[in-house]
Amino acid sequence: MSEKPEDAAVTTSAQSDGAGPKPAAGTTLTKDAAPGETLLKVTGLQKHFPIRKGLLQRQVGAVRAVDGIDFEVKSGETLGVVGESGCGKSTMGRLITRLLEPTAGTVEFEGRDITHLGVSGMRPMRRDVQMIFQDPYSSLNPRHTIGTIIGAPFKLQGVTPEGGIKKEVQRLLSVVGLNPEHYNRYPHEFSGGQRQRIGIARALALNPKLVVADEPVSALDVSIQAQVVNLLDDLQQELGLTYVIIAHDLSVVRHVSDRIAVMYLGKIVELADRESLYKAPMHPYTKALMSAVPIPDPRRRAAKSERILLKGDVPSPISPPSGCRFHTRCWKATEICTTKEPPLLELKPGQQVACHHPENAEDQAPQDTVLLTAAKEAVELVPDAVVSADAAQKARAEATGEEPEDAK
Ligand SMILES: Nc1ncnc2c1ncn2[C@@H]1O[C@H](COP(=O)(O)OP(=O)(O)OP(=O)(O)O)[C@@H](O)[C@H]1O
Ligand code: SF4
Ligand SMILES: [Mg+2]
Repeated sequence: MSEKPEDAAVTTSAQSDGAGPKPAAGTTLTKDAAPGETLLKVTGLQKHFPIRKGLLQRQVGAVRAVDGIDFEVKSGETLGVVGESGCGKSTMGRLITRLLEPTAGTVEFEGRDITHLGVSGMRPMRRDVQMIFQDPYSSLNPRHTIGTIIGAPFKLQGVTPEGGIKKEVQRLLSVVGLNPEHYNRYPHEFSGGQRQRIGIARALALNPKLVVADEPVSALDVSIQAQVVNLLDDLQQELGLTYVIIAHDLSVVRHVSDRIAVMYLGKIVELADRESLYKAPMHPYTKALMSAVPIPDPRRRAAKSERILLKGDVPSPISPPSGCRFHTRCWKATEICTTKEPPLLELKPGQQVACHHPENAEDQAPQDTVLLTAAKEAVELVPDAVVSADAAQKARAEATGEEPEDAK
């Protein structure tokens, strides 16, 4: 992560939830991989979950959760992955950590093909790649003390750290800003933010190289989200970690990512460095996602800009639309979009996009100019002021427990 958060949601101190001391600096957990080297390489990755029916459990279809994706993660960087609910982000995270077996494609870690490694082959790899889960309430066993939870990876790997497991767990607790004296407490004695710190400590136990964080802050209050995001940022700098951070909230990913991959229905539709993506998004879907993010800059508010609100629902990943999967919701869709799947191409240095008619770049199918009828009604342009007023009304309704106006 190269930039500290700017907005109010992400500027509070990483330690200000009363969770304890600052992460211990200068720990022994340093990495030896050279920054910028490819750590993880994913090629043609697919995961189709079979749908079975009847007594014989015959396969009648498949959920194409991840449907052919390619990307690399470089040592020391943070790759953000965004997209709407159900687009395959968690499945992708579980595939690259090898918690799921892919249907097709390859996963290479440090140049080694780990796609089909068995349990014993995976054991050393498990130390290098760890996952932080979305829900800090369900991901910690309520019957175990946090000492047992954070110490479990050592037992699973048959590793005894120098000084013993208890001492190492207490050190990890202090690294994530929790009180080492709380070793014997149970998860229910901690707040959501503190529980997520416990999940982070567990992920760090074996000194991993790559940490895949699946929506690490989405279950937390906005003020606590900032503290956990800052903690992840501090840890990356101190421990030389590489992150893949999954989020549906572009405002979180914006502040933590060096590069961002945008997913739609099992595919990557745009992959670019953060600056390029935010300055000049090329895929219409990215543009719509960004347009839906509240803008904290008062100068832009004054400009009375408009938000693009996508109207249609996300289609089913069981039978995704032909051609470009976004064509049923895209305001730029033409005939070619319904028949030919656009390849992911690098149209500007460091910016890959899969679109026949990209924004801010040369048209890839200039001969195809007639908009589909549905495209003309695919989006609604709503002035910023209306969206902000609507959001404020919803927030008021939430605070007071009343129904918002539009729900009545
Ligand atoms: N074990 C499974 N069996 C069948 N279908 C699954 C399974 N896991 C996920 N899916 C389906 O795969 C698709 C992608 O799911 P996934 O959880 O990866 O999406 P996501 O982008 O992480 O969504 P969210 O933002 O809601 O977490 C969804 O349609 C989901 O219902
Ligand atoms: S390929 Fe066509 S439908 Fe798909 S995003 Fe581009 S313009 Fe829209
Ligand atoms: Mg998910």
